[in-house]
Amino acid sequence: MNFKGRDIISIRDFSKEEILFILERASFFDKNKTSDHLKEKVMATLFFEPSTRTRLSFETSMAQLGGKVLSFDDVNSSSIVKGESLHDTVKMVEGYCDLIVVRHPKEGAARYVAEVASVPVINAGDGSNQHPSQTFTDLYTLQKELGDISKTKIGFVGDLKYGRTVHSLSLALAKFGLPIVFISPKSLRMPQDLIEELQSFNIKIIEEESIEKVANDINILYVTRIQKERFSDLLEYERLKGVYQIDLDLTSSFPHLKIMHPLPRVGEISPEVDGFEGAIYFRQAHNGVPVRKALISMVLGK
Ligand code: CP
Repeated sequence: MNFKGRDIISIRDFSKEEILFILERASFFDKNKTSDHLKEKVMATLFFEPSTRTRLSFETSMAQLGGKVLSFDDVNSSSIVKGESLHDTVKMVEGYCDLIVVRHPKEGAARYVAEVASVPVINAGDGSNQHPSQTFTDLYTLQKELGDISKTKIGFVGDLKYGRTVHSLSLALAKFGLPIVFISPKSLRMPQDLIEELQSFNIKIIEEESIEKVANDINILYVTRIQKERFSDLLEYERLKGVYQIDLDLTSSFPHLKIMHPLPRVGEISPEVDGFEGAIYFRQAHNGVPVRKALISMVLGK
């Protein structure tokens, strides 16, 4: 398969076969940590929203492949604060690099950047919409931890309304025909249009409010943060922020569960759970490096 020059904007754009091919490449990079095959290449990271894992794992990946990274330290230090448009920023940056990685608070912004740019673009998260490199990381984690993605019986819990990682990953799992349980308060349910899109794959979907009621039907509990920055009503956020608490009571009641989280966490997983055998969220974050190495190398045709 040839991915040279391809944009990575939405998991919708990838077939099951292409996903498996990318995971195979990630496995290669997991075993082969460093090389210099991108030593002439430059990757620009344009992050209009904060990030730790995505940005640093992209930058680590490029460094370990021998390439260079250019980025804003802070959007406020760029000419965007003088009023330069996203269009003009991209037209400038494309002349300085071979690949753009962009994160933006607006849904659809990454697709727009890809339409404007003459170099390949990877979406590092656009609003509540998609986060495909996280999805490949999550799928790679499932494959490594369970031995085969087809063994996944996942329950997503938390902010399913705004959580782009859930929106992306659930669509990918639907391509594999896998059942999905969604656990959330009523006001943070999965958007109805996404539920309908998932139903078109003829998969089993359950919506529930209680973790305990479904914990024996799943083997992965994918926990998400309540996304404060997406709420227009902060009182509503305060009401919902502690609604689910993953603690040792839960893990000792359901020791078969593996706990994933795209991170950052802000209280929804107690720190004492970190020592639980099934707590795999830090390994999940570290898997972002081989996965992003695979994505960068593939779109650069190397
Ligand atoms: N998982 C994730 O996207 O984390 P960051 O926001 O720190 O990049």
